Amino acid sequence: MTSASTEITTSGPARLLPGAPVAEAVLAETSAAAARLASRGIIPSLATILVGDDDASARYVGIKQRQATALGFASPHEHLPATATQDDLHRAIARFNADPAVHGLLVQYPVPAHLDYDAALQTIDPDKDVDGMHPLNMGRLAVGVPGPLPCTPAGIEALLAYYDIPVAGREVVILGRGATLGRPLAMLLSQKRPTANAAVTVVHTGVPDWPRYTRRADILVAAAGVPGIVRPEHVKPGSVVIGAGVRYDGRRLLPDVDEACAEVAGAITPRVGGVGPTTVAMLFRNAVRAAERANQ
Ligand SMILES: NC(=O)c1ccc[n+]([C@@H]2O[C@H](COP(=O)([O-])OP(=O)(O)OC[C@H]3O[C@@H](n4cnc5c(N)ncnc54)[C@H](OP(=O)(O)O)[C@@H]3O)[C@@H](O)[C@H]2O)c1
Repeated sequence: MTSASTEITTSGPARLLPGAPVAEAVLAETSAAAARLASRGIIPSLATILVGDDDASARYVGIKQRQATALGFASPHEHLPATATQDDLHRAIARFNADPAVHGLLVQYPVPAHLDYDAALQTIDPDKDVDGMHPLNMGRLAVGVPGPLPCTPAGIEALLAYYDIPVAGREVVILGRGATLGRPLAMLLSQKRPTANAAVTVVHTGVPDWPRYTRRADILVAAAGVPGIVRPEHVKPGSVVIGAGVRYDGRRLLPDVDEACAEVAGAITPRVGGVGPTTVAMLFRNAVRAAERANQ
């Protein structure tokens, strides 16, 4: 899963690192894995639960169901009314947990305000947790036991590997230690594996002079969710910049990485279409791997 090599030696304008080709490669591998399972009579299955009638959420679920079908997955779905209680949601999760034909389960975010999304996620069978965010899966990641991986961090590792960006032995600095991104990414990229094995530093609000660290990074990952926080003077010339943190102002996407960083970096994810597509692809990779593990 490689393309041309990216050397960390030159300065910008940076080479762009779009996520779409990476996602396509991950999905092609996933489809092949699904076909191998199907030849043994096992159909991988990614179930979805939608609560309420939010149009955008329904559209996202529809996209995932169509993608599942295209990959050769089953995609059972449960649509609960906006008036569903927390117990109703937990019961729907429990039904999919108990169904051996279901290998992955996704509760579409957001849920109506009266429901506790995080509490619901904790009731998902960790082996079926395709988001990879269940505390047990964080623990598995910490100790290096196979299990669903958090999607955005796993997508970033896949993106670096796809573009042949050397990670092993390199200095990776992550701005942000949040539970969905910075913290699991630090665990992932410091694991002993050819596509990881990095010297990882995590900086945050407790490190007010964080630019001192980011300026020496071979690979800088912005994971703060603070629009424009990473500016050109924070970037080592010729380095790789991955913009993962974003905030939304209505539908307008405000990335952490200031566009001018492309003049300093050697390679950089685009403002739109960087780690988003790889994150979604990882849901399906997690599901097919869960099906493989359940049928070893
Ligand atoms: N593209 C995708 O698919 C995708 C997926 C998941 C998440 N994201 C985005 O990634 C970002 C991080 O997500 P998360 O859930 O990990 O967020 P989070 O829990 O809010 O973590 C943000 C981190 O950034 C640090 N930070 C915030 N402002 C800072 C500042 N001024 N200086 C230094 N550090 C600062 C915080 O430091 P403290 O810990 O000290 O507060 C915290 O560690 C969000 O923007 C989210 O939308 C994107």
